[in-house]
Amino acid sequence: MNSSLLDEGSSGYLEAGSRKITYFSNGYVLGLTAVAGIGGLLFGYDTGVISGALLYIKDEFEAVNDSSFLQETIVSMALVGAIIGAAAGGWINDAYGRKKATLVADVIFAIGSIVMAAAPDPYVLIFGRLLVGLGVGVASVTAPVYIAEASPSEIRGGLVSTNVLMITGGQFLSYLINLAFTEVPGTWRWMLGVSAVPAVVQFSLMLCLPESPRWLFMKKRKSEAIVVLSKIYDPLRLEEEIDQLSVALEEERQRKTSVSYWDVVKKKEIRLAFLTGAGLQAFQQFTGINTVMYYSPTIVQMAGFSSNQLALLLSLIVAGVNAAGTIVGINLIDHFGRRKLALSSLFGVIISLIVLSVAFFLESSSTSSSSLYGWLAVLGLALYIASFSPGMGPVPWTVNSEIYPESYRGICGGMSATVNWVSNLIVAQSFLSIAEAVGTGATFLILAVVAVLAFVFVAVFVPETKGLTFEEVERIWKVRAWGSGAAQFSTVSDSTRLFSCFEYLMRPGPTEPPGCQKSVHGFRKAVLFLCPPKGQFSS
Ligand code: BGC
Repeated sequence: MNSSLLDEGSSGYLEAGSRKITYFSNGYVLGLTAVAGIGGLLFGYDTGVISGALLYIKDEFEAVNDSSFLQETIVSMALVGAIIGAAAGGWINDAYGRKKATLVADVIFAIGSIVMAAAPDPYVLIFGRLLVGLGVGVASVTAPVYIAEASPSEIRGGLVSTNVLMITGGQFLSYLINLAFTEVPGTWRWMLGVSAVPAVVQFSLMLCLPESPRWLFMKKRKSEAIVVLSKIYDPLRLEEEIDQLSVALEEERQRKTSVSYWDVVKKKEIRLAFLTGAGLQAFQQFTGINTVMYYSPTIVQMAGFSSNQLALLLSLIVAGVNAAGTIVGINLIDHFGRRKLALSSLFGVIISLIVLSVAFFLESSSTSSSSLYGWLAVLGLALYIASFSPGMGPVPWTVNSEIYPESYRGICGGMSATVNWVSNLIVAQSFLSIAEAVGTGATFLILAVVAVLAFVFVAVFVPETKGLTFEEVERIWKVRAWGSGAAQFSTVSDSTRLFSCFEYLMRPGPTEPPGCQKSVHGFRKAVLFLCPPKGQFSS
């Protein structure tokens, strides 16, 4: 990717280098990220808590103890709920806004937690799991989009990845809470019910936070949007952001007003963006993160630690390393870029899956039980988590929050989160049967092959979006769909706008057309925005 211009900052074009925006430089955006990230916490907690809780649910309900079908349904019903929630969540986001979507997710989640905690029988418990899953699904689409739309582009990757830190932190917390409640009467009811608390906390805090400025702008609530934007940007940058949003809004107006799911198939630039986003989400799951996490106690036991408690403790460490690795990702994503981070992460994932595969092959073919193979497996496990967590954990969620045009951000983000949850369900349901059929070593080898495909996919299809504004990212897809010449004047409105800007600068009138400023400097900026130098957006 060429571009000294783009390297200089978000909107990229001029003297952006003078403004230094860092992860910690704006407390308001950071606070907003933390509150939105409670959605990630619910996601992580809910996916992590059930394995421990199930042990105690089996003790209380004999029917569950006797039926592996009931056990599987209790576990996977939340995934089913998340699939539906993510699909519906995209639409709620576009139609009613990010704030209302978050509030809806909290209400459903809190009701679901209470239903589970009070469940008199397994069937009510299953219904509660479905509700909680619905809430998690809606939150999984909403939190990244809400954060991305409030973030200055220089630090957008780190802020969206903070939501992933909340996911991995939530998983870690769920293991801790599982340990804490093992001796308390009502065990699993506490484990499952306690998650209503963060949902209620997020609901209350969210009432004090604004709607996403970009969504407000799209819904033509410009003055409300400007109030929010003025809390995020300094005056100079604010003007620039408003200019760009006005341009985007004008384009939205030229398009037909209603957006349909069919457009995602029909419009080439949207289709390309969606295939890239959904592909990343699918590969995140098919490279096996959740099975490796799931398998961690077994791997640890293979190394010769037979005590259950020690195995649990070591899985807690795995979850801790996963969260710590996400912090590394937050630090790297806006410097390294999304592509380099994902590619180096996948490289490590491939090596570690091969190590795991070799360890399991050796163990199954050896006659003596040597702890050497076990240690090799532990090494593979550690390398896997350390490689996955900074890259393939946060990158798919980040890229999906930033690659779609404003009016498609909800539905495309929702559809690709649905792809993530469906893939998660497929892997969870098939891993054990595949391992039984071909052996654990061969299963890890299959995952390694998938990771190689993921590497090629990222190298070929994923564009670098580091530091780009949403408008610049949108242009990437136009270039890919129609070529750089077409993208320079990809719509009639682009050339019309350029012309009216030029006219305005020659003969200033009462209303400045959006996208240009009252100076030669502004004109140059408008020209650069409309006609980026050739090749600037190729990755
Ligand atoms: C994934 C989850 C996974 C978690 C663990 C997230 O990015 O979407 O499915 O459990 O990472 O690290």
